[in-house]
Amino acid sequence: MDQGGPGTDRRVDAGPRVRVPAGHVPGVRALVTGGAGFLGSHLSERLAGQGARVTIVDDLSTGRLENLEALRPTPGPLPLGPDAGAAELIVSDLGHALEGPLAGRSFDRVYHLAASVGVRRVMDDPADAIERNVVLTARLMRWLVAGGLAGFGAAAGAVGPAGAAGPAGGTSGRVLIASSSEVYGKSERAPFAEGDDSVFGPTTALRWSYACSKALDEHLALAHHQRHGLGVVIARLFNTVGPRQVGDYGMVLPRFVGAALRDEPLEVHGDGEQVRCLCDVRDVVDGLCRLTEHPGAVGGVFNIGSDQPMTISELAARVVRVVGSQSLVVKTPYQRVFGAGFEDLRRRVPDLRKVRALIGFDPGVPFDQTIRDVARWIADADGCARGSRDRFGRHGAGR
Ligand SMILES: NC(=O)c1ccc[n+]([C@@H]2O[C@H](COP(=O)([O-])OP(=O)(O)OC[C@H]3O[C@@H](n4cnc5c(N)ncnc54)[C@H](O)[C@@H]3O)[C@@H](O)[C@H]2O)c1
Repeated sequence: MDQGGPGTDRRVDAGPRVRVPAGHVPGVRALVTGGAGFLGSHLSERLAGQGARVTIVDDLSTGRLENLEALRPTPGPLPLGPDAGAAELIVSDLGHALEGPLAGRSFDRVYHLAASVGVRRVMDDPADAIERNVVLTARLMRWLVAGGLAGFGAAAGAVGPAGAAGPAGGTSGRVLIASSSEVYGKSERAPFAEGDDSVFGPTTALRWSYACSKALDEHLALAHHQRHGLGVVIARLFNTVGPRQVGDYGMVLPRFVGAALRDEPLEVHGDGEQVRCLCDVRDVVDGLCRLTEHPGAVGGVFNIGSDQPMTISELAARVVRVVGSQSLVVKTPYQRVFGAGFEDLRRRVPDLRKVRALIGFDPGVPFDQTIRDVARWIADADGCARGSRDRFGRHGAGR
């Protein structure tokens, strides 16, 4: 397909704590790559709701047009003028879009979410995943420096190293990179802080290619920040959940909720004692918007997610209870799901001190509410057993 560090110090020195409003100046030009996906569609809605003019680029490889129903984007380009809250959709591979419909255009905010996501999808086609994640990010960075980001390119004059440039020299626009907690690899530290080492397995184990590709994305972004003063902000997302996330690529919550709605067994991989923290997409999107707007976030790496740990067995039991299901919970060995030699991570908990200190990040959606919202979305979107639809569908009582 066609595409485009921290040290070991664990101290948190994020400067004065500032509550940054997540609002945008009406008419700010925002580009969301992967905007028809799970996270991207929630983010695009939020940005448009705050008055941004949103341009979405998505090749619909895992994204879905249905995710944009509420936004109703036009095929684009957006008409000139203020037109706050308007949205356009460019259905294209991002690499092609940079040379085609996006050529010569410039944005104030760029949220780069397009990627091949999920360990299962990456293991199915690792080469495609690496190309999407790394080559695409490299091309995007070059396009931004060449004028795709406000304040860059010929019109802005020469750009200098980070900090040297004024607004006309490249510091006015911002680029948010959606990285992943996978970057910590199989480090056994708990919780993970942004300055911790990454520990990856051997290159012969395909599952590490996703972690490596996201680490390279971070390196690329930070290199462009250092070299050109590009206003990058890196968010390391921990498990994010909510309506519109699909279970097809192994994501645990929609898989469990879907099975519970059908009263089928919930399949826990391994012994079920692996620990995860799941955060509602609305809290994550709020954090991403606030981070991007905070001047102190530029050039930094931030964990975003929940720090409330639970085992996968506990999660399964909770889903069964909240959905009111008759499902059993069964355990399946990893090797039967992912093949021999698969290494999973025992404990993945973020240290949130840095992002809390900077933007007051404080996830607030109760987790049972998230489960109910996911159940309602699955019941409405995919249809399922009649009883479940009655309980959680559009006209059901599960609210
Ligand atoms: N959901 C999570 O728990 C989580 C955790 C860590 C990191 N992330 C990161 O957040 C971002 C969004 O993830 P998501 O969960 O919404 O997944 P998603 O699969 O729903 O979204 C990715 C989107 O990118 C699009 N895309 C892929 N390749 C493209 C290309 N070449 N050109 C244009 N569009 C392309 C897909 O169609 C899809 O809409 C990703 O970068 C992912 O690595 C997500």
